[in-house]
Amino acid sequence: MSPAVSDGLAAADRAETRSRSAGARGAGQDRRRAELDRLWARGRAFLGTDCAIMGGAMTWVSERNLVAAISNAGGFGVIASGSMSPDLLSREIAATAALTNRPFGVNLITMHPQLLELIDVCIEHRVGHVVLAGGIPTIAAIQRIRAGGSRVLCFAPALVLAKKLVRMGADAIVIEGSEAGGHIGPVSTAVLAQEVLPHLTEVPVFVAGGIGRGEAILSYLEMGAAGVQLGTRFVCAHESVAHAQFKRAFIRASARDAVASVQLDARFPVIPVRALANPATDRFREIQRQVIDRFNRGELSQKDAQLEIEHFWAGALRRAVIDGDVEAGSLMAGQSVGLVTREQSTAEILAELVDQALMAIAGRDQRFTSAFAGSAEGQGAGG
Ligand SMILES: Cc1cc2nc3c(=O)[nH]c(=O)nc-3n(C[C@H](O)[C@H](O)[C@H](O)COP(=O)(O)O)c2cc1C
Repeated sequence: MSPAVSDGLAAADRAETRSRSAGARGAGQDRRRAELDRLWARGRAFLGTDCAIMGGAMTWVSERNLVAAISNAGGFGVIASGSMSPDLLSREIAATAALTNRPFGVNLITMHPQLLELIDVCIEHRVGHVVLAGGIPTIAAIQRIRAGGSRVLCFAPALVLAKKLVRMGADAIVIEGSEAGGHIGPVSTAVLAQEVLPHLTEVPVFVAGGIGRGEAILSYLEMGAAGVQLGTRFVCAHESVAHAQFKRAFIRASARDAVASVQLDARFPVIPVRALANPATDRFREIQRQVIDRFNRGELSQKDAQLEIEHFWAGALRRAVIDGDVEAGSLMAGQSVGLVTREQSTAEILAELVDQALMAIAGRDQRFTSAFAGSAEGQGAGG
């Protein structure tokens, strides 16, 4: 055989080995994707999406652009209706639908004085999924949404409430731990997930709070979650309309900067909100101190004192998100803010999360294979 032919055959062998290993790699990737799709199949079917990743509604941030971008990239965008009027919400839904033909949802706050009208707006627009947030909803609200043909997702802060909400008609439950940005409950995501996931199988359960990477998504799916909901991670998406200063504060912050609001006196309850500490956080503590002193001196009634405390944050989220006032505004953010390191497109964020989940499956397979090889070797040596 001529050296040229032998070289040629060796090259062909190498190419075949390469293509076989590329084929094996491809097959491995397909298998891992199939595994992930199996794990979040229930969530995907419920949402009608490629990925069972919901973009949690964030007032002022989750408007048409971000919501459509999340849905277009294969996730599930949710419009934050906040304190919108029915007319405004109607326009926002129409504008979002003009930007995407994928499914998206609407988040309604249960204590909104026009909740029933807002529900009707969602039904008129044939919104497939309505998320009821901000307290335990009434059966009337849940049933009205269902009668209109939409599915209802409710937040549950504990297993017993989750079960109650399912009995009331909720089609899915979101459990959100205290690592999350915005209004929070007292229990961490890890503990809530252990409390709820093994015992609530009747409906899909989505886990929220503190999720910033795909490995965490995989772990909650393996515990039985149908999918996940992330908010903080999407704030710095290119498509997010949040002010550049607001985004900069997120990129600079570490997990420990996202702190829960402090209540100084049990007589004056403060609804806990997780946000980046800033001068407004210190000012809030100071205002509480002054108001409590005035109450103690008899200069204020309890009701007026409570109102003054509550009034402090009015409009503060808008000031930060839209006006970029990061000193006096509210920088609502979850602890996963430490994992936000740059502005990215929404599609890139979702692809990164999915890749991380797939890599975690690959890592697990590899650990299993080496452990198995190790134990086979050990047995061989013993025999
Ligand atoms: C800036 C900001 C605003 C939010 N506003 C709302 C809201 O209006 N309604 C709601 O149900 N949740 C709201 N949330 C919570 C998110 O929908 C989501 O559940 C939460 O961010 C998930 O936790 P994570 O921040 O750790 O990802 C907000 C969160 C942030 C960071």
